[in-house]
Amino acid sequence: MKAFRLVLAALAAAALALPAAAKDKEPVNAGPYVPSPQSVVSDMLTLAGVGPGDFVIDLGSGDGRIVLTAAKVFGARGFGVEIQDHLVRLSNEAARKEGVADRVKFLTQDLFKTDISQATVLTMYLLPNTVNMLKDKLLAELRPGTRVLSHDYPLAGWIPEKYVQMDLEDKVAISGVTTTLIYLYVVPAKVAGSWSAKLPPGLSRDPVRLDLAQQVTRVSGSARIGGKEVPLEEAKMRGEQLSFRLASGGRSWEFSGTVRGGAIEGLAQGGGVKAPWSAAR
Ligand SMILES: C[S@@+](CC[C@H](N)C(=O)[O-])C[C@H]1O[C@@H](n2cnc3c(N)ncnc32)[C@H](O)[C@@H]1O
Repeated sequence: MKAFRLVLAALAAAALALPAAAKDKEPVNAGPYVPSPQSVVSDMLTLAGVGPGDFVIDLGSGDGRIVLTAAKVFGARGFGVEIQDHLVRLSNEAARKEGVADRVKFLTQDLFKTDISQATVLTMYLLPNTVNMLKDKLLAELRPGTRVLSHDYPLAGWIPEKYVQMDLEDKVAISGVTTTLIYLYVVPAKVAGSWSAKLPPGLSRDPVRLDLAQQVTRVSGSARIGGKEVPLEEAKMRGEQLSFRLASGGRSWEFSGTVRGGAIEGLAQGGGVKAPWSAAR
């Protein structure tokens, strides 16, 4: 962390020293070339459950090891983007030598300008501020359910699906400490806004207005049942899956549902009853 922080300070100072026109042209340096130890690469891909159906994109791909391992060991496809041309050449050469060039490629490209919408898994080992600069891009471009892995630095305000901490001697040379962190996030569907919901008849026979607010995976809101605002409890999004609890008429109902565009469909369970529910925007 200490070494990364020093680099960050140097990069910020260098950026301030640049004339305005140059700043517009130069890609933002999102982090120095520091490869993830190979064991961390394997742990990241294992944590996300990467398999042959996945398309892995590594932002700032260095020597290509994350995407190369995803292809060779986990059977995935993908690409890496990197601003240092010699690392891109090295990575494409390794892909040819290791027999995976038909499934992976590496491009000399600014990660901030890369279309990431094809990813089912997105990986990053970048400076802490860069990871956070990317949050809006991740939510705008990645499909719900896409897994995002960040080595060492969290996405502030996002609740990780899984989180692993370990001690690795290899990291002392990189960050001055052995501590290594891997964060796994799942991109949530967008659910904020007003919905007209059909709830189980035991809760309401009339359509119910559902008002939802969302902060990444955290959801809050209320359902207007029988003229009363009933708050949603423990509401959350995991990819396309919405879940919450509603307490009404002396019963507690557990809701789960799949959010697809302008529709939610799912099941509600309460007092031994299991019934479908749905909502539309
Ligand atoms: C810490 S290294 C990580 C390498 C690799 N992802 C890994 O985990 O082994 C970060 C890489 O990002 C690259 N990089 C920095 N800014 C970039 C940008 N704007 N676009 C593309 N790559 C960038 C650096 O050249 C460096 O190789």
